[in-house]
Amino acid sequence: MPRLGDATRGRILFGGDYNPEQWPEETWHEDVRLMKAAGVNSVTLGVFSWAKLEPRPGAREFGWLDRLMDLMHAGGIGVVLATPTSAPPPWMGRLHPETLPRDEDGRTEWWGGRQHFSHSSATYRRYAAAITEDLAARYGSHPALTLWHINNEYCTYDWGDEAAAAFRRWLQDKYGTVDALNEAWGTAFWSQGYDGWHEILPPRHAHYMKNPTQVLDFKRFTSDMLLECYLAERDIVRRHTPHIPVTTNFMPMWAGQDAWRWAAEEDVVSVDLYPDPRDPFGAQSGALVQDMTRSQAGHGPWMLMEQAAGAVNWRGVNHPKPSGLNRLWSLQAVARGADGVCYFQWRQSRQGAEKFHSGMVSHAGEEGRTYREVKRLGAELARIGSEVTDSHVSADIALLHDWNSWWAGSQEGRPSSEVDYPAVVGAWHRAFWEAHLTTAFAHPEHDLSAYRLVVVPQLYLLTDTAIDNLLAYVHGGGTLVCGFLTGVADEDDRIRPGGMDARLRDLFGIRTLHEWWPLDAGEGVECDGFRGLLWSEEIEAQDADEVIAYQGGELDGLPAVLRKGRAWYVSTLPEPKALRDLLAGIASGAGARPVLDGLPAGVEAVRRGDLLFVLNHGREPVTIAVPGTHHDLLTGATVTNDVVLGRYGVAVLRP
Ligand code: GLA
Repeated sequence: MPRLGDATRGRILFGGDYNPEQWPEETWHEDVRLMKAAGVNSVTLGVFSWAKLEPRPGAREFGWLDRLMDLMHAGGIGVVLATPTSAPPPWMGRLHPETLPRDEDGRTEWWGGRQHFSHSSATYRRYAAAITEDLAARYGSHPALTLWHINNEYCTYDWGDEAAAAFRRWLQDKYGTVDALNEAWGTAFWSQGYDGWHEILPPRHAHYMKNPTQVLDFKRFTSDMLLECYLAERDIVRRHTPHIPVTTNFMPMWAGQDAWRWAAEEDVVSVDLYPDPRDPFGAQSGALVQDMTRSQAGHGPWMLMEQAAGAVNWRGVNHPKPSGLNRLWSLQAVARGADGVCYFQWRQSRQGAEKFHSGMVSHAGEEGRTYREVKRLGAELARIGSEVTDSHVSADIALLHDWNSWWAGSQEGRPSSEVDYPAVVGAWHRAFWEAHLTTAFAHPEHDLSAYRLVVVPQLYLLTDTAIDNLLAYVHGGGTLVCGFLTGVADEDDRIRPGGMDARLRDLFGIRTLHEWWPLDAGEGVECDGFRGLLWSEEIEAQDADEVIAYQGGELDGLPAVLRKGRAWYVSTLPEPKALRDLLAGIASGAGARPVLDGLPAGVEAVRRGDLLFVLNHGREPVTIAVPGTHHDLLTGATVTNDVVLGRYGVAVLRP
């Protein structure tokens, strides 16, 4: 497998999307000067260049890109070369309207924006393969080429006719017979029985709620179709350049791709991450995505492909980053394992839909605060690069996450639309983050034996294999904590007998799950020692060893939390402090320790290899006890027993 490290030679990739086609050539030279001054060692070229490269069908205009590749190389800047296939040129939609996706109401997604391609269109795929082939042939041996970047944030859906035909083929492969599909989809309900494949459609606009398994399969199909598009391009570039690693950039915690499956097909896993600077949980939500991406990469590299140096322009109100925050969040990604810290984009645009989105060089130019802070960060990353790349972050605790469960659990017609899967996962991750415990993510069918503690914030859908895996983990000595509404459905979204899988009920000491009692927004349910939010359950215990009971109301005296041996079940969402205390206590019992003892709130500590990163997410200075003598790689100072961190301060300590 090609390695990122071979291309980066121990440096952290630092740079961003570079869209020089938006600028006159004089600016390119100015860009190189500013890039070099800022320690930029990587730019991503070509992400949205299809119309420039192929202005009419089959034409090739490579001269400008030749000059840029050479210019970057001469400046010592590596190129992450993108295939431009996420934004087809206008001629494609005009000449081949079948390449344009349709939404569920049958409306066409026209050119004039981006990502207006149908993943199922043979014509689109043919043009995408051709431009990829020619790019790989032309630049495969260029010395600036560091990494291939396929497409950009794959995220399109398509309910059109060509997608419908592809959906039928996908279903035929999966089910073999229409009878098997009817059984899996439960089409006996509402007279939906299919008599032949030709009757089956993507879940288009319907009068009332759609068949949930049809919707679930459509989400699986969409992820698979996009993956096919990625693999086709990946295989082309690999054929030309087996030594150059390949990636495609994920959106963070995005519902459209089963990123576990995708990540297995990448040499470097990359993600785009844009926490809101005003979000009080921005640092933790960033940590969650970083933990997730690192876990998807397994022992391979991951990188932050895009972040904003300042404001984005796609929220209602778009706040800039206060001084120091860009540096802090960038070093947080490095602490959590990133081998690259890059941005969308290098130079802020003056035209187009994203002209109010920040760049590393803002409209204020070289004198602007944004560029000055970028420059400082570039120098610091250069200083620590060789110490961190190729070193790993290890975690004793895994949170389990699965796209299939997310998809199935977000359907219409469920007990509560207040239950938002990413928010539930976020609440559990936050509990560990605030307890200073490092977490990984894992798929429920992964080998879990390396973890002291496995937690399931919520997996509504669990396959039999996953359930066996959880049982084996606990029987093998592991500690398991499961949140509410877990183990309810099988892989076809069929409710398991008893409303929760019998093996899991037995594991937790539950005799009967009588009813779910979802809570309204803002409503709470009293439990012995804390308030539960969002959800509660009417459970009868059988042989649980320990019970924390609901107090008052309909569920008075019934278990809110049960433990049998090393298996815990939490049937509500404890309010944040209670969840943190509960999980920190269980983690401690399982032998998982915080990175440092006695850390105050808002200070994060992470170990990467031998290095200890300490990050102050607060605006007030803090003094942190770090027993022993260390060398701070950022300042060069020797640190003995404690370190002082100013507002948004960071120390990277080597023993
Ligand atoms: C994504 C895209 C970029 C850009 C940024 C803006 O990450 O990949 O092209 O649109 O969002 O935040």
